[in-house]
Amino acid sequence: MRILFIGDIVGRPGREVVGSEVPRLRDALALDFVIANGENSAGGFGLTRAIAGELFDSGVDVITTGNHWADQKEILSYIAEEDRILRPRNLPASAPGKGAGLYETRSGHRVLVVNPIGRVFMDPQDDPFAAVESELIACPLGEGADAIVIDMHAEATSEKMAMGHFCDGRASLVVGTHSHIPTADAQILPGGTAYQTDAGACADYDSVIGMEKFEPLQRFTKKISTARYTPASGPATLCAVFVETGAKGLAQRIEPVRVGGRLKQTQPEM
Ligand SMILES: [Fe+2]
Ligand SMILES: [Fe+2]
Repeated sequence: MRILFIGDIVGRPGREVVGSEVPRLRDALALDFVIANGENSAGGFGLTRAIAGELFDSGVDVITTGNHWADQKEILSYIAEEDRILRPRNLPASAPGKGAGLYETRSGHRVLVVNPIGRVFMDPQDDPFAAVESELIACPLGEGADAIVIDMHAEATSEKMAMGHFCDGRASLVVGTHSHIPTADAQILPGGTAYQTDAGACADYDSVIGMEKFEPLQRFTKKISTARYTPASGPATLCAVFVETGAKGLAQRIEPVRVGGRLKQTQPEM
């Protein structure tokens, strides 16, 4: 199976590059399933129902999120009925929505997607490792699911890498989100799980992690805040991770994808 995981979509530039590139990538890479992190898709903060619909229309099958999942309060009214949007898995059990889902691809394969959130340099949460463990036990790779993708939404590279090893041999792909910068460590771990510490973002990279750079610079250099953060408005680079699975749902191939915008371009050769 061929799966594309797209990093945090930031604002309109991020949505535009998804809209223009995902239909093309679906064909060019013969993709069976596309997952995208949409936590920053509405003006940098959260996602609306209309924006989620736009992303699904572009060819995204499932939207994961992170700490910004509920920044747009309207999500609270529809996430319970929208199976294709996940919120972080290890929130309090009473939070609306769910943090894992089993989906069927157009070719009839089953993909389990789990969206844990980290605890290092982030708000306190339940244990993300225990949360992932319970999902992997309930739906093992090669039995309950033909592929398993874990979006580990976390700040610390160490916590994301630990999650990779924790799932090694039991998931097809463990990929990090949240830091908005693609890391250069795409690899297949010894047990057969594809791994990249951060997928990167779909954002204008003439920015500070996707945001217009003036205000973050003010805050860093002068310790004063004069405005809200807004997404940088230039053309975005779509950053993603491509994975091809083989026997038992483990990874055979992992390749970074960077198309559009300012970052050095790369796309898997078919
Ligand atoms: Fe993000
Ligand atoms: Fe985040």
